[in-house]
Amino acid sequence: MSDSTIQIFDTTLRDGEQVPGCKLDTSQKIIIAEQLDILGVDVIEAGFPVSSPGDFKSVEEISKIVKNASVCGLTRAVKKDIEIAAEALKHAKKPRIHTGIGTSESHIKYKFNSNKEDILIRAFEAVKYAKSFVEDVEFYAEDAGRTENEFLARVCEEAIRAGATVLNIPDTTGYCLPSEYGAKIKYLKENVKGIENAIISCHCHNDLGLATANSIEGIINGARQIECTINGIGERAGNTALEEVVMILKQHPYLNLDTNINTKHLYGLSQLVSESMGVYTQPNKAIVGANAFAHSSGIHQDGVIKNRETYEIIDPKDVGVTESAIVLTARSGRAALAYRAKIAGYELTKLQLDIVYNSFLSFADRKKEVNDDDIHQIIESTSISNQILKV
Ligand code: KIV
Ligand code: ZN
Repeated sequence: MSDSTIQIFDTTLRDGEQVPGCKLDTSQKIIIAEQLDILGVDVIEAGFPVSSPGDFKSVEEISKIVKNASVCGLTRAVKKDIEIAAEALKHAKKPRIHTGIGTSESHIKYKFNSNKEDILIRAFEAVKYAKSFVEDVEFYAEDAGRTENEFLARVCEEAIRAGATVLNIPDTTGYCLPSEYGAKIKYLKENVKGIENAIISCHCHNDLGLATANSIEGIINGARQIECTINGIGERAGNTALEEVVMILKQHPYLNLDTNINTKHLYGLSQLVSESMGVYTQPNKAIVGANAFAHSSGIHQDGVIKNRETYEIIDPKDVGVTESAIVLTARSGRAALAYRAKIAGYELTKLQLDIVYNSFLSFADRKKEVNDDDIHQIIESTSISNQILKV
């Protein structure tokens, strides 16, 4: 792996599936895992095997079919969890156990009724035990976002000493500001003994809408893996959206960072996940929302028709969307109407366009969006319809 290639760790099937009411069955998970493998993700977190027999089976079956990516199973820092995860992953070509423990004051006090020294021991032992089953062990410091940096560094050192290959620094509650999260990663890079032997991973939640910004800030400061989900789905406000971080890196080449993702599959996978989970994607969702490449105001439409790049920073084909959409509404101008009329089969002269445009405006004031059938109706209802050239 080159130092400029960011590893994409997809957790759609684990953290993403924690969306209430969106449970997937094993066959649905297998289909998504196959597509994630084709997309080019580096790691697929397939589930939390100890949590239920269904999750165990999903991780086991996914381990059998994934060809390229590592397959990962989540555990707590508990021996039984680790044993069961190892069992579920036994058919994986590249198995990874993801184990860890809460490290913030509030987790130590309220979740574990424990103390820092005990957490350090538990972290070390969990990684060591996981290492007795697989070579690739990722350690997470849950609620790292609210953990003071000095203690976090000590926990990371223990995990590395026990053999962790990846250190996951989750902003579990989505609390950090990008500058704060970036500084945390930088601090770990500079202060953790043995850090050169491990990859730092960003795992950011979106409670304040900062998950993507925080992940990007994390990698700018030295992290080399991002944990994310398709469409940013996940518990509460969700996780970092895979399609967003991947396209940010692609559209900003001067960062000198890339991924192994074949971006042309992004839209298809977004649709697959949304349909399988029954989670509707908001129309204005970056990259994959229905309006991400739709233009409806006259000024923007005129620009896009002249040259797409006037109002689009991404070629829709790069993410698997066939083309930009020129949506006809009462805010549209003549250029958009002429463009759409041509697609619908009419070549309008300038004079004809003026007449049709007036009819169009009064129609569009009554209807939110004007479709091809409406265009036919509008044109055929004008007094000049028999003079218009049909193409
Ligand atoms: O958000 C989080 O802290 C997690 C860990 C379990 C990795 O999902
Ligand atoms: Zn999470």
